[in-house]
Amino acid sequence: MRPLLTPVEHRTYLIDGSLVEWAGATQDVFSTLNSAEVGYAKTRLGSIPDLGEKEAIAALDSALKAYDHGKGTWPTMKVRDRIACMVNFVEQMKTKREEVVQLLMWEIIKNKPDAYKEFDRTIEYIYDTIEAYKDLDREAGQFEKHSGVYAHIRRGPLGVVLCLGPYNYPLNETFSLLIPAIIMGNTTLFKPAKHGVLLITPLLEAFQQCFPKGVVNILFGRGRSIAAPLMKTGKIDVLSIIGHSRSANALQELHPKGNRLRTVYGLEAKNPGIILPDADLDLTVSECISGTLSYNGQRCTALKILYVHEQIKSRFLTAFCEAVDALGFGDPWDEKAWLTPLPEPNKVDYIQELIDDALAKGAKIMNAKGGQRFDNFIWPAVLYPVSRDMRVYQEEQFGPVIPVISFENFDTPLDDMATSDYGQQVSVFGRDPNQLAHLIDVLVNLVCRVNLNSACQRGPDVYPFTGRKDSGQATLSVKDALRSFSIRTFLAFKENDVNKATVRDILEADQSNFLNTDFIF
Ligand code: G3H
Repeated sequence: MRPLLTPVEHRTYLIDGSLVEWAGATQDVFSTLNSAEVGYAKTRLGSIPDLGEKEAIAALDSALKAYDHGKGTWPTMKVRDRIACMVNFVEQMKTKREEVVQLLMWEIIKNKPDAYKEFDRTIEYIYDTIEAYKDLDREAGQFEKHSGVYAHIRRGPLGVVLCLGPYNYPLNETFSLLIPAIIMGNTTLFKPAKHGVLLITPLLEAFQQCFPKGVVNILFGRGRSIAAPLMKTGKIDVLSIIGHSRSANALQELHPKGNRLRTVYGLEAKNPGIILPDADLDLTVSECISGTLSYNGQRCTALKILYVHEQIKSRFLTAFCEAVDALGFGDPWDEKAWLTPLPEPNKVDYIQELIDDALAKGAKIMNAKGGQRFDNFIWPAVLYPVSRDMRVYQEEQFGPVIPVISFENFDTPLDDMATSDYGQQVSVFGRDPNQLAHLIDVLVNLVCRVNLNSACQRGPDVYPFTGRKDSGQATLSVKDALRSFSIRTFLAFKENDVNKATVRDILEADQSNFLNTDFIF
């Protein structure tokens, strides 16, 4: 049963430590869930401020002031004090679980277990980040000596970070950028994704109360009115995006001094599943279902194309199609809902275009329910045989449609992957050690994670999440993200009595937040 919805008419944004009341234009926020008794009507969820260039530049000024060319309180603060702010934040965030999760379900129509999982995983990510930062700091709290030169090496912040997250994980993926950026001593600007924006509003007070002013600035509005003017100033030091390479390239090019800009990107992918003749059928079908259709395939890590060996093709297609058609569909609150309506208003028409194009070029829909349309949903169509001239082969569908190609020679999937624009992950299903050994050795150089008899996925978040070619830049994981949002910086001194005595005096005075050997428990 759907819960009652009280529209959220949100009017504040966070800038320079204040929740500023907005009296200007607003943007309505809708869910594609049907609220009409007869026919179809999208559901109005509330509204947000429609901020523009003026507010974006004011937020930038606030972040610049807080960073103060590295002299600010936040970038020079003791690590233990920054950690204390983050602990305070995560404790406050936990109290908003129910509110955030309900909005997550309304806004991006993620089913209930996955919506709770997104929240809980984010909390865990923050705690893990805190622990990883303590480890990093402990490792750095010592001296090295080479060729008569001592060094005390730590990681320092980079400056002002602009964070832009995606609609499919509007909380988790955005925070996987924002949290490490903040904790490493940077100051930040954050604009929530187009879909999945109201769910951020319950957290504004926690951000305001837990961090010094200017460290976190949160803006609402359109990307082109906010992110574009910010990039043009040349004062953004790090552009961090989880989204599409088109937006990343467009924004990156606006920066007048590209050499100064660090980019941290998680971008699109077309992860293949390769099914070998001796694959365990039940296991493969179950992993391919979760790989292709978790959250309706709206995941950058989703399996977006399946390569099935001729010897197992018929058995696989029969079992897989049955499993696709047996999935539950409904509102996110519905206990049986595994598939849910799509949050983007035009997505069903787009998926239909891909299907029509494939059918016109010789593919067939292999499952009985494939292509059936509901209120803003289209039943996943298993398309076979797919060829390279089809749009569903060439484009990242990011939705419920599954192209299948059969092969006899392993070079078929390998050559396709080599010429693909993407290089994030692959799943390989099989048991023959000789075949697998050969494949693994090649696949690891085509993508950045090879999943054996397992669907592609980002987690556990301690593992490196990255991609080759158009699929990413820099690495995100609990530990790697701390590195991505910081730079190595150090104190060096030649070995002599004066320097040794001076450094000892600084350590004993315990006045430096950088030069110290504190152990953070
Ligand atoms: O959209 C891409 C996400 O990073 C996928 O994460 O594999 O945990 O669903 P996930």
